[in-house]
Amino acid sequence: MSATALPTVTAFAPGRVNLIGEHTDYNGGQCLPFAIPLATTATLTLRDDGILRATSDQAEPWTGRLDDVTSRQVTGWASYVAGVVWALDAVAPLAGGLDVQVTSTIPLGGGLSSSAALECSIAIALEALLGQTPDADGRSRIAEACRRAETEYVGAPTGGVDQLASMLGAEEHAVHIDFDDPRTPATTLVPLPLTADGLAILVTDTGARHALVEDDSGYARRRAECDAAAATLGVPTLSRAAFADLASIADPVHRRRTRHVVTENARVVETVDALKVQDWGRLGALLTASHESLRDDFEVSCAELDVAVEAALQAGARGARMTGGGFGGCTIALVHAGEADAVRAAIDTAYRGSGWPAPRHHLVQPSAGARVVARS
Ligand code: GLA
Repeated sequence: MSATALPTVTAFAPGRVNLIGEHTDYNGGQCLPFAIPLATTATLTLRDDGILRATSDQAEPWTGRLDDVTSRQVTGWASYVAGVVWALDAVAPLAGGLDVQVTSTIPLGGGLSSSAALECSIAIALEALLGQTPDADGRSRIAEACRRAETEYVGAPTGGVDQLASMLGAEEHAVHIDFDDPRTPATTLVPLPLTADGLAILVTDTGARHALVEDDSGYARRRAECDAAAATLGVPTLSRAAFADLASIADPVHRRRTRHVVTENARVVETVDALKVQDWGRLGALLTASHESLRDDFEVSCAELDVAVEAALQAGARGARMTGGGFGGCTIALVHAGEADAVRAAIDTAYRGSGWPAPRHHLVQPSAGARVVARS
């Protein structure tokens, strides 16, 4: 039988921008991401020869046996595919093999959750191939499986905000996530009707790249520092610390990390309140305060991010900050759509002045989450 005669499902999963609430997910805290129009599309087709074949428009193809998923022989980007198959316990049901074709408009490793979009597109297509149509709880369960794929299979110690944003995102909404119970985070959609007031988010991809997988990455170090600070305070996660606890932390690095987490959680709560009354000025101020905290206390910004934020603010953005893990990646700026070109040009000029390659910009609105788009 030819592979094309076997069932096929195509699914779409968006990248995300984290509006605010950075480096709080793995600290039991709060985040407020939204899904963006940049997305990954995965077409999965069952096979009958036991082969796993993964192709992508952004990376080299990978071909091996489906059994390689269990023996962890799958390498490179295809390990994200294998991780999802593993996390969804789909090795046995897929014994005949699987063909995976991926296309994406999300820059790889650029801080817009290309990995989560890949995982979620595979996961939602896989569930459909196996006859499942997830409800809202099912979507959160899939997001958690994707997080496990990334953390426990691929080995990138990420925290869960990206996968939930991709799975639960909705047009004109942000997803408020409270990780107080990390395995079953509480999620609520929060209206974010930027267009109603002529606003948009300008995403600037600095082109500077971070890596989250290496054990000695800045991201892994930040996690370790947060865990150490929580242990010092005797709290299960750093988000259970209070501002008053800061004085009792002797290590100045741990004190700064804690101050970021505590103040960032407060900023998320304040942002949700500001959005209830569409106080865009307040939102802008909170975004910029978040950047300052990530730059000075959490120390995950870099020159490219700081210059983009500063240039955006100088050119009239309501607020701006780095988004995602940091050490490169993207910034976001809250702009009036009519001023977006001026903000963009100001950032480009600043980059030319620093001798850096031109950054890439995307003007985005909160968009829909992962879904099946075709099946046959
Ligand atoms: C990366 C991780 C997320 C989160 C952010 C920082 O994007 O994948 O889980 O920790 O960094 O907020």
